[in-house]
Amino acid sequence: MTPRLLENDPGLADRRTIILAPTGRDSDLIAGLLGRAALPCHPTGCIAELVDEIRLGAGAAIISEEALVGDVIPQILEVLNEQPSWSDFPLILLTVGGQVTAESERLRELRRPLGNVFLLERPIRPETLLGTLEIALRGRQRQYQIRDQLLQYERAQEALRRSEKLAVTGRLAASIAHEINNPLEAVTNLLYLMRTDSSPEKLQSYLEDADRELARVTEITTQTLRFYREPNKPVETKLAGVLDSVLVLYQSRLTAANVKVEHEIRLPSAAVLSSPGELRQVIANIIGNAIDAMRRGGHLCIRISRTKTRHGADSVRLTIADSGSGIPADLLPKIFEPFITTKGETGTGLGLWVTAEIVKKNRWKIHVRSSQRPGCSGTTFSLCMPLLA
Ligand SMILES: Nc1ncnc2c1ncn2[C@@H]1O[C@H](COP(=O)(O)OP(=O)(O)OP(=O)(O)O)[C@@H](O)[C@H]1O
Ligand SMILES: [Mg+2]
Repeated sequence: MTPRLLENDPGLADRRTIILAPTGRDSDLIAGLLGRAALPCHPTGCIAELVDEIRLGAGAAIISEEALVGDVIPQILEVLNEQPSWSDFPLILLTVGGQVTAESERLRELRRPLGNVFLLERPIRPETLLGTLEIALRGRQRQYQIRDQLLQYERAQEALRRSEKLAVTGRLAASIAHEINNPLEAVTNLLYLMRTDSSPEKLQSYLEDADRELARVTEITTQTLRFYREPNKPVETKLAGVLDSVLVLYQSRLTAANVKVEHEIRLPSAAVLSSPGELRQVIANIIGNAIDAMRRGGHLCIRISRTKTRHGADSVRLTIADSGSGIPADLLPKIFEPFITTKGETGTGLGLWVTAEIVKKNRWKIHVRSSQRPGCSGTTFSLCMPLLA
């Protein structure tokens, strides 16, 4: 069957039956029977053709046992193993009737790995063949329903991922505006003072202050511009650099919440393979949550240290520990699932889900420990990544 035929009728590939019955008139008889029952089919002359047609798409295959010679079963197995996880392709085998012999036993063993197999002993009544094929095709329809649901689920996940990216961008834009506003307000005040109090010493000191405030604006804008110009592909990325850029943006929220930041950077030059934007998103989500959990002040301890994976490979561990409210024990196993939030209108519950997705994609590891014990409550996230340098 030409691919064009399948293109013209997209559903045909899901419904049609491929036939391989190379000896005698079996192939013609079966094709005629299916044709009269309005079941689309495609007779083939050899195993290579059968395998090609299954690859193009089919609802079931009917194979006569005489065709299972030589390395035919491994070839069928190969194409079945290529199928996606939702697929359990149905095969109808037309066996040779008679007594159990050494040969029939050998064949039985050989076809065992084929999985979803219907055995029909010849001579077969037409109704039996049609009935069996209809059951096989109905089972296949259920598999397609699972396929379509998986596809829908993947699309929904992708849409969620995109909307969270936009939300993160929006939040970043708000914090950038906020960060820039503080030094600009300071410069406006300094200009006012320069106009009203113009002794030369004072003027000099106001100018120096204004310089410092404007340097801070430049620092924030350069960090942000770098963020937008960054490549999307994984590149060698300095962990401490990304961490600093997140802390710069969160500085005023940290000060406003009375949070003291403590650093223990044992590997200042540690580099990992990541798109800097993704690494920043992970760190920003974790630190953002930590600040939310420390409404009445606290400590944020950040450590970058060397570690080894279970297989002995050099890795770097980023530990972010807060002394905040802690995560309730019943919520802890679910925090990486989408829409889990305790923040009502202000949270989407997507931050840690996206974090986990990025971690999974990059084959990093993330762990969380949390306690709500009075006096020593808090949460620690640790992120392990293969070390590049
Ligand atoms: N450091 C932390 N301390 C206490 N609770 C936390 C901490 N980190 C996460 N959580 C809990 O996990 C929930 C899920 O976090 P997540 O970042 O996925 O969503 P969110 O912060 O609620 O919303 P969003 O990040 O979309 O604004 C939070 O609502 C909070 O209850
Ligand atoms: Mg969050």
